Amino acid sequence: MSMAAPAKEPIISVRDLVVGFGDRLVMNGLSLDVYPGEVLGFVGGSGQGKSVLTRAILGLVPKRAGSIRVFGQDRDSLAPAARRALEQRWGVLFQNGALFSGLTVKQNIQMPMRESRELSPRLMDELAMLKIELVGLKPDAADKFPSELSGGMVKRAALARALALDPELVFLDEPTSGLDPIGAAEFDQLIGTLQETLGLTVFMVTHDLDSLYAICDRVAALAEGRVIAAGTLDDLLKSDHPWLQAYFHGVRGSRLVASSAG
Ligand SMILES: Nc1ncnc2c1ncn2[C@@H]1O[C@H](COP(=O)(O)OP(=O)(O)OP(=O)(O)O)[C@@H](O)[C@H]1O
Ligand SMILES: [Mg+2]
Repeated sequence: MSMAAPAKEPIISVRDLVVGFGDRLVMNGLSLDVYPGEVLGFVGGSGQGKSVLTRAILGLVPKRAGSIRVFGQDRDSLAPAARRALEQRWGVLFQNGALFSGLTVKQNIQMPMRESRELSPRLMDELAMLKIELVGLKPDAADKFPSELSGGMVKRAALARALALDPELVFLDEPTSGLDPIGAAEFDQLIGTLQETLGLTVFMVTHDLDSLYAICDRVAALAEGRVIAAGTLDDLLKSDHPWLQAYFHGVRGSRLVASSAG
């Protein structure tokens, strides 16, 4: 965990974003800032558009209106080379399809390296082994296929791939979903440690209240196509917005509310 949002220029700045599919608007005037060095937790009900926003910021989903700036740059207005340079400054752990099933862990981690840099095979091997160590996997995981790994190991390998190009900014879409509470807590700890040691900025979509409590500096909540609240977890817990009330004060949230009171 690091400093809470100081008066710095945001690393991600989204303004009045509109994204839709057919006649369904998923984002409808959404604005959000993410500041350097923070872990921003992004919450919202299932199907509300958390993954769509992530993909819109990455430039994988077109926007109908509004602006998205990352590192002060508008991806849509960049020439291809500048766009690629921008994209190399971030890493992504997608919600689904975290790894290519036909490639080993090492080959998965090397994919972004192959796409963007001319490195010798030997150097790529060394770099991949470094990333494998960084995320707490044993060296023998390198030559295994995803089907030979546990769910937690797959997440770690996917994180290693997200970190392949030493990004400054990492997008994690539900990184702990599917893990048991202990595995999820360990993964949170890993993200927190990497954030601190590498100075990362982290945009993390999560349903996991433990994650929000453990590693997020700020939390933003999505409902009806907008960010309805953003602030510390305590700020959000005190909000009287009906959706936030229901979310945080429901059965799953009661333990969290109790533990963060006072
Ligand atoms: N490519 C697409 N084409 C049409 N509709 C889409 C597309 N991608 C997403 N949607 C729709 O956009 C809405 C938001 O989806 P999204 O995946 O962002 O939800 P989410 O908040 O990430 O949900 P979850 O918590 O279940 O992951 C959904 O109604 C979904 O069906
Ligand atoms: Mg999603």
